[in-house]
Amino acid sequence: MDLCCGTGDLSVWLARLALTGTEIIGLDYSLPMLARAKEKAKRFPLHTNVNFIHGDVGDLPFPDGHFDSIGISFAFRNLTYKNPKTQRYLAEVVRVLKPGGEFVIVESSQPPNSLIRKLVHIYLRLFVYRVGSWISKNRPAYKYLSESARHFYTAGELADLLMNAGFKQVTAKRLLFGAAAIHTATK
Ligand SMILES: C[S@@+](CC[C@H](N)C(=O)[O-])C[C@H]1O[C@@H](n2cnc3c(N)ncnc32)[C@H](O)[C@@H]1O
Repeated sequence: MDLCCGTGDLSVWLARLALTGTEIIGLDYSLPMLARAKEKAKRFPLHTNVNFIHGDVGDLPFPDGHFDSIGISFAFRNLTYKNPKTQRYLAEVVRVLKPGGEFVIVESSQPPNSLIRKLVHIYLRLFVYRVGSWISKNRPAYKYLSESARHFYTAGELADLLMNAGFKQVTAKRLLFGAAAIHTATK
């Protein structure tokens, strides 16, 4: 499952890479996002099943142990940054994964080097916030993006959050000097 699939980039990419017969589900609670995802999927000759489902991470419409793996790209921050439902969301992800299944998170992170971290934070505050607000004309959305990315967990803190939620093992691969990371949590 591609959790919080948005317009379906990860779902479609996975569907293009997956072996024939693999079943892929993209889930999001935004109907306009799902409509775009469905359109995008039609543009590629896919040999796997990709279905887009409307749902909330807090109440996933699947039985226990249903998925071999769950991925989430650039939406884990939305689920866990100052979000009172964080524990509920994580409990649902753990519930619908098979034992031994993997939860793979691609998300912004904090560079361990303090100088690079400062530079990334300046970029988020000045460029992402100002230019993003100006181009999109949606100031609150880019204020949230800039603020939540600057104050988001380090890789270590994120591993603690996942272990406390019930995962057995968590690893992280840093990208872009640690400005982003791929975290893999095993149930
Ligand atoms: C920043 S977008 C990321 C979309 C996509 N994963 C990508 O990489 O382009 C965050 C997405 O999370 C979805 N979302 C946020 N909270 C959600 C929830 N509780 N249940 C389902 N979807 C949620 C939003 O509707 C939005 O499409």
